[in-house]
Amino acid sequence: MTDKNRSQWDIGRFLDTLTYFEVIPFISCLKRLFTGRANPKQVNRGGERRVGVILVAGATGGVGKRVVRRLLERNYKVRALVRDAKRGREMLGENLELFEADISIPETLTPELMFNVSAVICCTGTRVQPVEGDTPTREKYYQGIKFYMPEVVDSPEVVEYQGIKNLVQTVAKHIKPTSDRLLFDFKNPSDDLKESWGAVDDVVMGGVSESSIRLIDNAALFTGNVSTQNSGGFVSVRTRNFEPPLNLAGYDGMELRVKGDGQRYKFILRTEARWDGVSYCCSFDTEKDSWINIRIPFESLTPIFRAKTLPDAPPFDVQNIYSVQLMLSKFEYDGALNPKFEPGNFALQVESINAYGGAPKPQLIMISSAGVTRPGRPGINLEEEPPAVRMNDQLGGILTCKLKGEECVRDSGISYTIVRPCALTEEPGGKALSFAQGDNIRGQVSREEIAELCLQALEEPTACNVTFEVKEVENSSAIASDWKSLFAALKPDQEMEQAR
Ligand SMILES: NC(=O)c1ccc[n+]([C@@H]2O[C@H](COP(=O)([O-])OP(=O)(O)OC[C@H]3O[C@@H](n4cnc5c(N)ncnc54)[C@H](OP(=O)(O)O)[C@@H]3O)[C@@H](O)[C@H]2O)c1
Repeated sequence: MTDKNRSQWDIGRFLDTLTYFEVIPFISCLKRLFTGRANPKQVNRGGERRVGVILVAGATGGVGKRVVRRLLERNYKVRALVRDAKRGREMLGENLELFEADISIPETLTPELMFNVSAVICCTGTRVQPVEGDTPTREKYYQGIKFYMPEVVDSPEVVEYQGIKNLVQTVAKHIKPTSDRLLFDFKNPSDDLKESWGAVDDVVMGGVSESSIRLIDNAALFTGNVSTQNSGGFVSVRTRNFEPPLNLAGYDGMELRVKGDGQRYKFILRTEARWDGVSYCCSFDTEKDSWINIRIPFESLTPIFRAKTLPDAPPFDVQNIYSVQLMLSKFEYDGALNPKFEPGNFALQVESINAYGGAPKPQLIMISSAGVTRPGRPGINLEEEPPAVRMNDQLGGILTCKLKGEECVRDSGISYTIVRPCALTEEPGGKALSFAQGDNIRGQVSREEIAELCLQALEEPTACNVTFEVKEVENSSAIASDWKSLFAALKPDQEMEQAR
């Protein structure tokens, strides 16, 4: 750089860039000291966590409230469908959205209920209470669990069948498929953009180009001025490192929805935390003033170091993605020029960035009950069956209605998991579980463990489209379940049907 050029070069911006990305931690610390700014957040998009809201129906129930607690502990965004918002708030706290509705009243299940929802966990059930006058002196036991002579408060036909049918119809109408994973949704931004994305322009190499990214209506706008002065010629915006890194195993690539200015841009991913290491890059063309979807298969990414291709670089590691970058550069690769490049002002709007082509995960998890197929089944010895089977008729056909509800879920076209617990307890959980199919097992299982099972199913592709019973292994000590093996051993319902 000549002295004249050096005077045009903005060292302040250069240091700002390095500080924002914590390349010079010492300066970053000093800067925070003087400005009083908090430690910048690392962008947390890692692991397998879903983006979007998890809707919990029956959130005030024994299982539902435990599902909510666990979801919140693991930083999911939660919306609870409750019949009484005041009671819901008192029970569930402040850190979630409440939506007042009743699954048996279709008009209450509005599109707003489903806004941004990526999965639904349904823990609703007909209210059952002790028969009036039934007292502890008449306590009865089934498989070691104390129960009173029960009676239903609401109609099972209305809650277990019509209600589930209404909910399923609403979900099917509004939910988006999970084979896509939304990483950045600038249409409904929930992140602080300034905390996640920052500009990296040619000022880092001595240039004078300048860019920024900001939210506008329904999109993020990457804009500025790109200049070729001082041997410069690129602008970019990049995320701070994800902590932990993103794991996109099982997905085919990234999809961007963009509106550009006709220029050719670069999409860049990094698989190491270093500031200036290898990047994996793919160029894409925009159409002036038109919204288009750009798919970038992971296999099309080229390893690059400072615009030079690296034929011997390690293959792209889809399980360790540290940052995402968008760039406009005068250069393509290895000295070739970008044929669509125009210096001066530019503008690229980005509506969303998705991973696409992933294995679907369950989007509707329903808590049903063991025993739903047993009332009226030939060969059943009622003496040995749990109270709900024995008393199905007195309880308004509760299990028969649950089975009809299950059928609505299986026929819905949504990816689902139907969990049929044996008798539910208030025990702390943590015991080994056993899964079964065919509806023949008896036993008990804690509500805590069923709540954990729901969270595990949420992130497990092999939990899709299965119906199974679950109980605790008798006399087992407290050992964590091997969830992956439990789900993997289940047969999809379609296969079970064909085998019959
Ligand atoms: N008890 C057992 O041994 C056993 C065994 C196997 C399976 N199950 C099943 O497991 C599931 C969960 O059991 P649980 O003990 O957690 O049930 P629970 O405590 O009785 O909770 C039921 C939940 O459903 C909600 N609900 C009922 N009708 C509704 C409607 N029309 N619209 C919206 N929400 C409604 C209730 O809301 P409110 O708070 O407003 O009433 C409550 O939040 C149930 O389906 C149950 O039948 C139970």
